[in-house]
Amino acid sequence: MTGPFGAINTGTGVVAGDMRANENATITAVQTLFAREHNRIVDRLPSHLSDKEKFQIARKVVSAEQQWITYHEFLPAMGVRLAPYRGYRPDVRTSLANEFATVGYRSHSMVRGDFKVVTQLSRYTQQQLDTLRARGMSITITGSQVEIGIPPRLLPFNPDLVDQVQIGPLLQSFGLQPENRNDEVVDEDTLRSIVFLIPGCVPRCLTAVIDVAALDVERGRDHGIAAYNDLRRTYGLAPKPSFRAISGETTETFPADPELTPGDEINDPDSLDYVRPGVRRTTTAARLKAIYGDVSGLDAVVGMMAEPRLPGSEFGELQHAIWKRQFEALHDGDRFFYANDPALRVIKARYGIDYRRPLGDVIAANTDIQRADLAYDVFRAHPSVG
Ligand code: HEM
Repeated sequence: MTGPFGAINTGTGVVAGDMRANENATITAVQTLFAREHNRIVDRLPSHLSDKEKFQIARKVVSAEQQWITYHEFLPAMGVRLAPYRGYRPDVRTSLANEFATVGYRSHSMVRGDFKVVTQLSRYTQQQLDTLRARGMSITITGSQVEIGIPPRLLPFNPDLVDQVQIGPLLQSFGLQPENRNDEVVDEDTLRSIVFLIPGCVPRCLTAVIDVAALDVERGRDHGIAAYNDLRRTYGLAPKPSFRAISGETTETFPADPELTPGDEINDPDSLDYVRPGVRRTTTAARLKAIYGDVSGLDAVVGMMAEPRLPGSEFGELQHAIWKRQFEALHDGDRFFYANDPALRVIKARYGIDYRRPLGDVIAANTDIQRADLAYDVFRAHPSVG
């Protein structure tokens, strides 16, 4: 099905189940990893099985691996606490809630733009390093190590970058670099002034500059998402009486400034200045009040992002509630969820193939990165490893 790259590259992009495989080279790398994992499992199966049987077994194992990684590594790393799994429930619908796709899962605030790959210099020839530099990457050599800085503008619709930088160091580096905090700030370069090249448009390419945070707000309105407090009620949470109560700050009033007309403070760009690391001159609550006036009309996605994080979690109350309900439904209502699928036990007994593998194992099995050079749980950044 696939070439040595691991996924079919047509020249305008790789082909995978979802065209967003090309949206970002980091996604291309992960899609490629699991295409390789599929092929690796196929190669381990006995030759008397037909191609179709091998395909179906590998497909089932890779699906279970992805679920296992999601529920054992990803969700705990994000601080999402689910009710214990109690088996298949035919009365539960697994379809994604509008509120999940349009509000809760849009974790764009966490995306970080300045991506660095740190690896052995000996991996690349001088010509390859020159090519990376010519494409706009920064190259810093320290002894036997090289640091490749990849600016955000090179990541979208650029699947060739995975081959050029090499999939092993790329995947290894994802686990070494913490993402941004999930809060009310969305990365400017990566998501708020992003130049999108519409893929597959040779010879005439359309480009668009988009602000994903603004799209998130507008998309909520397009989809008829309830206002913030109504959505809180739907998820069993008490409504918030004020902007201050939402953000957990002490005031929703702007500091006095004799140079500004009262009521016009929101139009002052300096209102976003930091007075000390992490603390702005004006509160989020004051800015939200100036824009919305009253809590009743607050867009759900905006209120959700303004909530303080729960202890041990990346999410505030509303976002946590949306993820919890969706991910519980996704396992409860899935007859083939790994913990409910007897075929996985048969595959383990017959072929010795176990789906319970941390993502670090999958990376080590399908790239030239050694397992010891990856954290056990690659969803948690361990700068000392690697
Ligand atoms: C560089 C990274 C990313 C970029 C450039 C990006 C960009 C986008 C864009 C342009 C949209 C469409 C917005 C619209 O028209 O409504 C979108 C949708 C979405 N994004 Fe992202 N995104 C990124 C990362 C992420 C991450 C890390 C997550 C979640 C963990 C995420 C979750 C979503 C969801 C759930 C949607 C809506 C999908 C749907 O309704 O079908 N994105 N993203």
